[in-house]
Amino acid sequence: MKISILGTGYVGAVTGACFAELGNDVVFVDIYPAKLDMIRTGRSPIFEPGLDELLTKNLDRISATTDTDMAIRETSVTFICVGTPSNPDGSIDLRFIESASRDIGQVLKEKDGWHTVVVKSTVVSGTTLGSVRSALEAASGKVAFRDFGLASNPEFLKEGSALADVFSPDRIVIGAEDPRSQEVLESLYDSFDCPKLVVAIPVAEMIKYVSNAFLATKISFANEIGNLCKTMGLDTAEVFAGVGLDARINPAFFRSGIGFGGSCFPKDVRALIAQAEAAGVPPKILSSVVAVNEVQPLRLVALLKKHLPDLKGKRIGVLGLSFKPDTDDIRESRAIPITEELLKEGASVIAYDPLAIESFRRLYPDSTYAASAEDLIKTADAVLLTTEWKEFEALDYTGKIVIDGRRVPKAAVGSIYEGVCW
Ligand code: UGA
Repeated sequence: MKISILGTGYVGAVTGACFAELGNDVVFVDIYPAKLDMIRTGRSPIFEPGLDELLTKNLDRISATTDTDMAIRETSVTFICVGTPSNPDGSIDLRFIESASRDIGQVLKEKDGWHTVVVKSTVVSGTTLGSVRSALEAASGKVAFRDFGLASNPEFLKEGSALADVFSPDRIVIGAEDPRSQEVLESLYDSFDCPKLVVAIPVAEMIKYVSNAFLATKISFANEIGNLCKTMGLDTAEVFAGVGLDARINPAFFRSGIGFGGSCFPKDVRALIAQAEAAGVPPKILSSVVAVNEVQPLRLVALLKKHLPDLKGKRIGVLGLSFKPDTDDIRESRAIPITEELLKEGASVIAYDPLAIESFRRLYPDSTYAASAEDLIKTADAVLLTTEWKEFEALDYTGKIVIDGRRVPKAAVGSIYEGVCW
């Protein structure tokens, strides 16, 4: 199949490389030539383990261009993978989705033959048949499902393990309203041996949001219970190990700590809240999920103050800046509200991360950045563990005050050690 991918961010880069690996010809499109130059030479524009190798291996089936017209003309399926940021009120900002749809529509106006447009970006339910369809029809003068197809095919990738998530998915969700688009997606995923759900497009869009909202709910629930367990001297991990063994519940995403960050959970939960509010059914559970997630990282600083009541002038180490291990992404990282709180208390922050220092430095240019995790531990008056990088397991925390937000068992040798929920 000949596939164009609009947007070479996280979703586009991973999706395109995986489709190439499956034997398809893939054209990546972006407005940033530098990203395309990287792809052309087998380098991923985002950090994701294994992605450089996958691009390099499939270079003969990959091209990259800023020319949207050419990419759409030369392919029969286009995946929209552009970003969907938030508006200030938490609702989804569809600006990039709409402009991509208009661009595709312009080309479809002149293009003969069937073309399927698939929305892979995370969009609230109703977007594909609403804004996307209107923009495509207005720009092309053609009618969806008669002259071209529309589909929704949400991704369920986790940063850091995205390739494994694509090639061994729990399920593939295909939202299609016309048989030809359904057929295109079914044949694209033909070799996959997992449940494949074919549903209406708004259902596919909703499955994505509800999956993320439920996982975020599990985490905030684990944190709320974890806070209670700590007051009772119970190990919350032991409690959830037992709870998760109930097949109706499942053990995943019950790790309590300082809450969820990243580009998906915080944004998607807020967008779902905004959609529900606009629909006149303001959600109570989802609002609490966000509320718990906002206070949880601050508990780390409160615990620190039990041992160092006055943080003014103290050197506090923030160990781990990315929103989770194996990524350089700091979007909504819990290290951000923690750093804010430390600075408010007058502390001097010394930070370290294996990959995310440069991005963090742009937010906090005046903080000190340690050359290594060992250096941070040596020079800090107290250490806050904010991301569970594997290499932090191997460090020597002897004699330090350690407040652990992510459960790094090795850190328990500190002279004072406290976990946020244990
Ligand atoms: C998340 C979902 O897990 C993916 O299924 C989804 O496709 C993706 O969003 C998306 O919508 O694109 P991701 O944001 O990459 O993936 O990362 P996660 O591994 O889900 O972690 C999110 C946050 O939750 C991290 O800050 C992590 O530390 C935190 N977390 C995760 C916990 O605090 N406890 C847990 O038990 C699990």
